[in-house]
Amino acid sequence: MAFPETFLQDLKLRNDITEVVSGYVSLKRRGRNMVGLCPFHGEKTPSFNIYTENGSFYCFGCGVGGDVISFIMKIENLDYVDAVKFLAQRAGMELPENSYDDSMSRLRTRVLEANREAARFYFKTLMSPQGRTGLDYFHGRALSDATIRHFGLGYADGSWGSLCAYLKEKGFKESELVAANLAVRQRSGNGVYDRFTDRVMFPIIDLRGNVIAFGGRIMSDKKPKYLNTSDTPVFKKSENLFSLNNAKNSGSRELILCEGYMDVIAVNQAGFHNAVATLGTALTHEQAALMKRYADEVIICYDADEAGQKATARAIPLLRGAGLNIRVLTVPDGKDPDEFIRSRGDDGPNAFRALIEKSGNDVEYRLQKLRADYNLETSEGKVGYLGACVKLIATISGPVERDLYIGQLCREFSVDKASFMAQVDSELKRGAREDMRRQNRRLLNDLSGRGDRLDVDRAKKPRSSSAEEALVAFLINNPDSLGYILGRVTAEQFQNSLMKRYFVYVSERIEKNLDPLSGISGDFTEEERSRLFGILHKRSGIAESRRALDEYIQVITEESRKLSHRQVEEMSAEQLMASLGKLKENKK
Ligand code: UTP
Ligand code: MN
Repeated sequence: MAFPETFLQDLKLRNDITEVVSGYVSLKRRGRNMVGLCPFHGEKTPSFNIYTENGSFYCFGCGVGGDVISFIMKIENLDYVDAVKFLAQRAGMELPENSYDDSMSRLRTRVLEANREAARFYFKTLMSPQGRTGLDYFHGRALSDATIRHFGLGYADGSWGSLCAYLKEKGFKESELVAANLAVRQRSGNGVYDRFTDRVMFPIIDLRGNVIAFGGRIMSDKKPKYLNTSDTPVFKKSENLFSLNNAKNSGSRELILCEGYMDVIAVNQAGFHNAVATLGTALTHEQAALMKRYADEVIICYDADEAGQKATARAIPLLRGAGLNIRVLTVPDGKDPDEFIRSRGDDGPNAFRALIEKSGNDVEYRLQKLRADYNLETSEGKVGYLGACVKLIATISGPVERDLYIGQLCREFSVDKASFMAQVDSELKRGAREDMRRQNRRLLNDLSGRGDRLDVDRAKKPRSSSAEEALVAFLINNPDSLGYILGRVTAEQFQNSLMKRYFVYVSERIEKNLDPLSGISGDFTEEERSRLFGILHKRSGIAESRRALDEYIQVITEESRKLSHRQVEEMSAEQLMASLGKLKENKK
């Protein structure tokens, strides 16, 4: 979708990138740039840069970059059009007429509207005589009417068609209901039926209050127990968390991470509004990064069963990687949090608070778990256990924290602290060597372009790729050189298809007197856009003279004249003579 160029320029002017990003990241000045901790991956030292002079950002830790629009796309999880709307709203700007909606954005709006109506319908049904079974079910699980109302819980009746009928009456098209995954098309192709039937319903609400999806629980032992909305234009289950809307406003920088809907609701009812849950999948990187935006610490509160413990072990490195502090709450008696709270009756809230207070951090939890693997009655077992502890402690980055556990273990097992520390040190060094090796390997791969899926031509044509890359960067930084460049090079001479696309895009923009990079978020994928900003970042320290430019042009010209063997094989005799003639001519 095309917004008018003047509008986009105005939008960027009124949404200063430093100001916008400051809303999410705390920034410090470093030279001409601003730097901070990257919000898109976990890190302890800042590699996230804002280049105020051209209004762009780039993280050299994870390679994400772009302009203010792409920043909002990524951090607010919006598509291009919605990100533009978001920024327009932020700056109090009217959207230009006619450019208001493209079809995808219109569909998203319709899906959200359908979801909202559906949530109302499910809630109304729950409170009506038809919803009796659902309401009884919730009451049977000790939910109060206030809780039911607060979460907007509902009931999908068993008729296979009441929701569809209701929404069609409200003007929704079948295609919109199918897109929202509220309805499913009949196998015959004629008509649609309700996706959720005879289930109690849990709406999933995003941070802006939109109903983006549902979970529905069956009330018997039939399977599947929970049915969730599949991914739709407004919902990706791997990138959302149940009840984050409540948790965000809980006033706490701590989140309680539960396994399921009912746990979150029970924990909320007990007075802890900072609980969230994943939506029927294992925790993802995206969810961990999302939590980091609203919290500094996560209390993992999974079920006490084996699956829950496995999930805990998987979640710990993900959350650590996102830069979150972790505590692990262990629910006693093999219960889940919901069962635990209920089993304590009126004392539930207090009992749960006691569990939170007792919960140790992840290292304590893991040291404790490790014990089960060794027989600590034997010296062999002790040595084995301590060896495993050395490995674990060496993964902790803070020396004070490391020292704490070393001290505890040495006391408990009466071992010499100096020799234990020496072991941890050598483990640390080994880890550092490995990191270095991994980094070097990555660097080598980067240089050779091997394994680069985005830029497949680089490995095959390293020389022309570098020159073309340098030329593109030069052109972006010196738009007035376009005439000079086009007089000497054409896009056809580019050997690297990605660089060629950048070149064509940028030169067309400059020809139209537009900023070379604004609008790029709409025309390239996130990865392609990030790569271009990465190139600009990489070359930002290089002084670019006309002489350097002439060199790039020279290389591109030379390389484009080289004929590949294959091309030669496929040429007819006349073609071959002609191109040889051309080569000779060029040599003169
Ligand atoms: P659990 O089976 O632990 O259910 O699944 P629960 O939360 O304790 O639910 P109740 O107490 O029996 O009502 C944990 C979470 O895994 C997802 C749901 O998000 C659920 O809350 N899940 C589970 C599904 O998506 N589908 C299923 O069939 C089962
Ligand atoms: Mn449960």
